[in-house]
Amino acid sequence: MAGNYPGTGGPARGSEIPPVSYLQWYIPRLKENRKHNLSFSGLQFPWELEGIENVWKDHRGPGIDERELISKMYGVSVDNVHLCMGATQGIALAISAASRGGKVAVEMPSYGPVSQTARILGLETVAVHRITTSTAWVIDRDEWSLVLESVDLLMVTPQLNPVGWSFTEEDRNWLVSECKRKDVRIISDEVYSRADNSWRPMFTEGDNCITISSLTKVHGLGVIRYGWIIADESIIANVANSFHNMEGMMSSPTIRIVEHIKNRLHEPVELIEHYREKNLPVLISALERLGIEWTPPPHGVFGAFRIPGVNTIEMIDTIGKEHSLLAVPGIMFGPGLEEWLRIGWSIDPVSFAEAVSVLELVIRTALDIT
Ligand SMILES: Cc1ncc(COP(=O)(O)O)c(C=O)c1O
Repeated sequence: MAGNYPGTGGPARGSEIPPVSYLQWYIPRLKENRKHNLSFSGLQFPWELEGIENVWKDHRGPGIDERELISKMYGVSVDNVHLCMGATQGIALAISAASRGGKVAVEMPSYGPVSQTARILGLETVAVHRITTSTAWVIDRDEWSLVLESVDLLMVTPQLNPVGWSFTEEDRNWLVSECKRKDVRIISDEVYSRADNSWRPMFTEGDNCITISSLTKVHGLGVIRYGWIIADESIIANVANSFHNMEGMMSSPTIRIVEHIKNRLHEPVELIEHYREKNLPVLISALERLGIEWTPPPHGVFGAFRIPGVNTIEMIDTIGKEHSLLAVPGIMFGPGLEEWLRIGWSIDPVSFAEAVSVLELVIRTALDIT
């Protein structure tokens, strides 16, 4: 079903601006409030944030540098950090700051804003693909090598949406050295990476590498819109100019809320490990009973598997809806994923086990097996 995933091509404005098809599909279904929700790509963390004094008042003042929290988190100077209103805004800011006007290679599968925003900023994009495997999806090196000859910027999401697998170490090393050799800058959307303690942010690979992240996915704080960009000082200076033009300032309530909870940021990461321990065995057993092969990614709160012979959009929109089940079809993220389904395990174990038994019934019905 072509057209559900992000589109590549030339600069786009007005009616040519590509939709984020995934959100067009997902938001109305999310609003249906289906009872069994396996669609979340981020942690559902029960934050209680009441009682923050003066939350709406200007957070700026003498001696306050709002970048300090992130500069400490990553062990870099504040001059290597710029805050933004979520990773999605970070993508636009980073492209505007790092582009030298050439074409942009964009990874597929991907979340629409990662691969489409360059077009809205007047640039041409070319797709590069990761190859499907039953474990880590690997870079199609022949294809990437060729495309990297003709671009000056590359957009990646190392912890790939929808499968949750990261670059293999060999692919990462290969990619970094190819991009250095070909003078390509890398913008790396790492919103899922803090669930992996061993992850080395891409900005550590050199001046041509930029890291973007936010508190949305791993910390369950998407609604407050807090993100950041880490890069070489000269790129961050461009980001600052772009930010002043396009946003102005950070939201004071956002900064004050994050200051209020900054000593609790480890709690969601611990909850993710708890959910993995409790929920993954339940999903693995259900898939085994269905004869579906799957190896969960080593980190994070979602993964995707193939259901041979089943169109997963159709399945979720018919049998899934009947049973009040929501999960996300792989085709939302890239071509060739019609039979893939993304499942999130970031909900409490009791609800998860119930939802997985409904999922098993739905898949069994779609496969027409008893
Ligand atoms: C790869 C990726 N980046 C960014 C986002 C959104 O992040 P934010 O809420 O910080 O804008 C998503 C949401 O699904 C995503 O999958």
